[in-house]
Amino acid sequence: PKRIVILVSGNGSNAQAIIDGCSRESIQGTVVKLISNVPTAFALKRAAQANIPSSCIDHKAFENRGAFDLALAKEIDDAKPDVIVLAGFMRVLSGEFVEKYLGKLLNIHPSLLPKYHGLNTHQRAIDNKDSEHGTSVHFVTPEVDGGPVILQAKVPVFEDDTADELAERVLVQEHKIYPLVVNWLCKERIVLTNMKAFFDGQKLPERGYA
Ligand code: GAR
Repeated sequence: PKRIVILVSGNGSNAQAIIDGCSRESIQGTVVKLISNVPTAFALKRAAQANIPSSCIDHKAFENRGAFDLALAKEIDDAKPDVIVLAGFMRVLSGEFVEKYLGKLLNIHPSLLPKYHGLNTHQRAIDNKDSEHGTSVHFVTPEVDGGPVILQAKVPVFEDDTADELAERVLVQEHKIYPLVVNWLCKERIVLTNMKAFFDGQKLPERGYA
């Protein structure tokens, strides 16, 4: 089985879905470590509960992004992962960091990319009166939330939805699609190709990049 490291900042329900997928063997992988940048993240309790080694690298303890990313990379490399999964990890990673792990790094972003990069995606979908919203699993590249999309799930937006209600509806779908994609990467059924292009400022081709 492939070695998986999960990075989190909060509740960790997506991390839980991946941990559960591994223990049910619907993912051909093992979660070898969970790393949080937030000391109080509930995800750390989930790791303890599942007997998964965890650590916290508090970004507040570092002078700048580069120093934090370096410490994070060291912690990741100690676990010798094949696959690194961002699951509600709320820090932007530097270009150097992303380049080091290119092709091994997955993220889930709560919007129908390319819509709504960044934060507050649920409220933005409501404010724009979108009739549908959703979530996207993608390879991480230096452009934040800009990497090639692998799989998306859609949910309806109802007229009286609050951002919390919509977020909850999206999470249900995330817990289905993220374990699927993690398994595909573990089984090498998907691969990030044309990697050099992401560093030459070239535009993504329309198709055939994931
Ligand atoms: C998820 O909805 C995930 O898509 C989102 O945070 C939530 C984490 O929930 N990620 C981002 O916004 C990344 N920019 P969880 O901690 O329960 O998995």
